[in-house]
Amino acid sequence: MPTQLRGHFYLILIRAKCYTQGMIREDIKEIIAKALADLQKTGALTSGDLPEIKIEHPEDLRLGDYATNIALILTKKEGKKASEIAEVIASKIKAQNAKSIEKLEAVKGFINFFISKNYLLRELETITEEKERYGAEKETKKRIVVEYSSPNIAKSFGIGHLRSTVIGQAIYNLYQFLGWKCFGINHLGDWGTPHGKILYQIKEKKLKGKNEKEKEEILKNLTIEELERLYVDFHKDLAANPKLQDRAREWFKKLEQGDREAKEIWEYTKTISLREFERLYDLLDVRIDSVWGESFYENMLKDVVEETKKKGIAKESQGALIIEYSENPDTGKLPPAMLVKSDGATTYFTRDLAAVRYRIREFKPDILVYETGVEQTLHFRQVFEAARMLGWVSGEKFVHVGHGLYRFEHGKFSTRSGETIHLEEVLREAILRARKIIDASETGRGLSEEEKEDVARAVGIGGVKYNDLSHNPSSDIIFDWDKILNLKGNSAPYIQYTYARCASVLKKAGEKNNGEIKYKDFSLEELLILRLIVRFPEVAREAAETFSPNLLCNFVFDLAQAYNLFYASHRIGDAENNEAKKFRLLLTQGVAHVIKNCLGLLSIKTPERL
Ligand code: ARG
Repeated sequence: MPTQLRGHFYLILIRAKCYTQGMIREDIKEIIAKALADLQKTGALTSGDLPEIKIEHPEDLRLGDYATNIALILTKKEGKKASEIAEVIASKIKAQNAKSIEKLEAVKGFINFFISKNYLLRELETITEEKERYGAEKETKKRIVVEYSSPNIAKSFGIGHLRSTVIGQAIYNLYQFLGWKCFGINHLGDWGTPHGKILYQIKEKKLKGKNEKEKEEILKNLTIEELERLYVDFHKDLAANPKLQDRAREWFKKLEQGDREAKEIWEYTKTISLREFERLYDLLDVRIDSVWGESFYENMLKDVVEETKKKGIAKESQGALIIEYSENPDTGKLPPAMLVKSDGATTYFTRDLAAVRYRIREFKPDILVYETGVEQTLHFRQVFEAARMLGWVSGEKFVHVGHGLYRFEHGKFSTRSGETIHLEEVLREAILRARKIIDASETGRGLSEEEKEDVARAVGIGGVKYNDLSHNPSSDIIFDWDKILNLKGNSAPYIQYTYARCASVLKKAGEKNNGEIKYKDFSLEELLILRLIVRFPEVAREAAETFSPNLLCNFVFDLAQAYNLFYASHRIGDAENNEAKKFRLLLTQGVAHVIKNCLGLLSIKTPERL
């Protein structure tokens, strides 16, 4: 291998880190457990209760595929050196002659496992058999509610809601892939005093002095931009005339009480907003099962408030109704939450409380996930704790996945002006930029105009989404076009490009790859791909369990890099012999399937040509 590649190779070796939980992993755990039990029986181990066996991927693949620190944990109880214990356990494991393990090493108290090449090969065959179902799970009885996206009506869909939308969709996809019954909910912000402000503005600034017919025409032609403007204007006027706040409240009160006119105007604002949101969801390839905005829970609020009173959880405070929390080891002492304001209005909190009850009753979920900005962490703690105090929770797990902010440093989009950055503008720009790349590329020249447009969409939008998803949800993101569309870095275009490369290799070879593979003399690069690719089922599980789609991105990037490294140093279709050719095509096929699976879970497209 050229020295340059070798350096790169080891770089990936070291980067290929800690994806946990999975299939081969479970086999290895069993093997260790059996060895420990045997050693206990013969008295070689004296500890009665054995600790939980944990295995991890060593950071450096040269140290094996898995490693356990069990010997280190046992030193105290056993009163022996870790290295000694590790030796004893390792030799007991060796005696089992497990087919999946090729080599075992006891190093510095760790026991390192190398998966056998035969096992890896069989797994590769499984990938090509199971295709997009590789790593998936059959239907289980488990149920999960995932609430995500949840933009506010009468406002454009800002970049701020991108994170919730794509992270939430990925979590939904992951659980579905693992056989869970999933329920996706879009909790639109469509209720509360801000909507009183909009109603007041429309009524005052647009509809005053108009007859019925004119009114209808005006309402029909309202745009989101106009609604946004009216909202901003309201706040300008408010500075000069604080009484306007009361007018807004009155209008929201009307809406709450079902006033026909208020309701009608509000419906228009909602329809206009949903039209825009739908357009964005289409662009983003996002489908949310139920749109149940805050208003959906309106008729349940009275009941919920009554129940908090009856159960002695609500408390009067200066004319308002609040929930006070006591000191609790899990949550600390939470500040009180506002249930009903002194003017009788319910709150964001009340509606969320009602939503919890509804979702538990309706879906009987094992997990309820909420994907929102990290700044709502306290709010959700209060909601979840209140639900517990009310006795609604019996084993359901509540998860708030809080995401960080976008920061725009320079260029066309800037957050410094304080204005919302419209997601649609960002996506259109991404498509334009992707189109330029395609026009300049070699493959691009062979594509029809329509194909070019499709690919530009897949790459541009995929780029923006992948950039978002490749960050840990809780971290902030600096928006940088060069990174988003970087053909050489950890980006959607790079991965999509690798996929298209695989597709082109397979197309050129033209043949279907079936039958047993007998190839044995794997190169380092070939072996690296095999060792990475079989981790996909584990990675999908860990990404789901930790609600971290970014783990899928880390993995698929490593895999794509490994493939490109292999591609640069091997002949595939015209390999040195038939066995090598057959194997390399199968490997290429496997990589293509797994990349497609990974990006599919992130709702990112994989064009065949790029
Ligand atoms: N509409 C809210 C916002 O834009 C997010 C809603 C979050 N979900 C919830 N159940 N409160 O900030």
